[in-house]
Amino acid sequence: MTTYHGGKQRIGEKLARVIYDESVDIAKLKSDEDFKIKGYCEPFCGMLGVYQHIPKLFKDQLKYKAGDQNKSVVMMWQQAQKGWEPPTTCTKERFYKLKSDGKSTAEKGFIGHLCSFRSIYFGGYAYHITKKRMENTSTKVQKIATELKKVKFSNGSYTQFSNLKDYVIYCDPPYANTTQNYRNEQGRLVGFDTYEFWDWCDKMAANNIVFVSGYGQVSDAELIYTNKKEKLYLFR
Ligand SMILES: C[S@@+](CC[C@H](N)C(=O)[O-])C[C@H]1O[C@@H](n2cnc3c(N)ncnc32)[C@H](O)[C@@H]1O
Repeated sequence: MTTYHGGKQRIGEKLARVIYDESVDIAKLKSDEDFKIKGYCEPFCGMLGVYQHIPKLFKDQLKYKAGDQNKSVVMMWQQAQKGWEPPTTCTKERFYKLKSDGKSTAEKGFIGHLCSFRSIYFGGYAYHITKKRMENTSTKVQKIATELKKVKFSNGSYTQFSNLKDYVIYCDPPYANTTQNYRNEQGRLVGFDTYEFWDWCDKMAANNIVFVSGYGQVSDAELIYTNKKEKLYLFR
């Protein structure tokens, strides 16, 4: 998938490698404390810009979980895992019908970002999206879903994963102090409490390895990777 508001397609492979290498090192250091990595989770999975590269690194040994508060995006991945093929066309009329129907569907998860101006979920119909680009993206979603068959997707807030223990958790939340706001199924902007989220990361880091993407400083977490504006932090 090439377009997603705040998505990590461009640097996803590199971030996955950094997350993997760092996690393996930390697990070695913590082996005295009986720590062993049991699973990998992304509570803000979106279009899986990083996740698509993870199972190749950790292999089959782990449990894999993913979540997102956008129900249609989660439905898109769940349906694609079962063989659903995302559409390769979307007229302006279809786009606005989907935008206003108030429902959650796999089709909306796909169309809502891909066919929207600046990839903002059902922000405005993007006339410039070509059939070729839709076909390529549809094929890519099917390929990722097939490769990530073992991933369990669930819709909800990141706090649905509060009980995880011994996991590598990579978070790519809406960034603080940016225009990166997310829209719900009714097209309304949804706020995000960054401080509450950082508190959650602190708590989760007691029993897990927690990575967070951001532009500016993320709480008092340790900066472990930078690529232009993009930064990756580790909570200890
Ligand atoms: C920056 S995007 C993630 C992009 C993803 N890493 C990718 O490469 O496509 C942030 C995601 O967080 C989701 N989101 C926003 N608030 C959330 C919350 N409170 N809990 C879980 N997901 C949330 C949005 O729907 C969006 O998919």
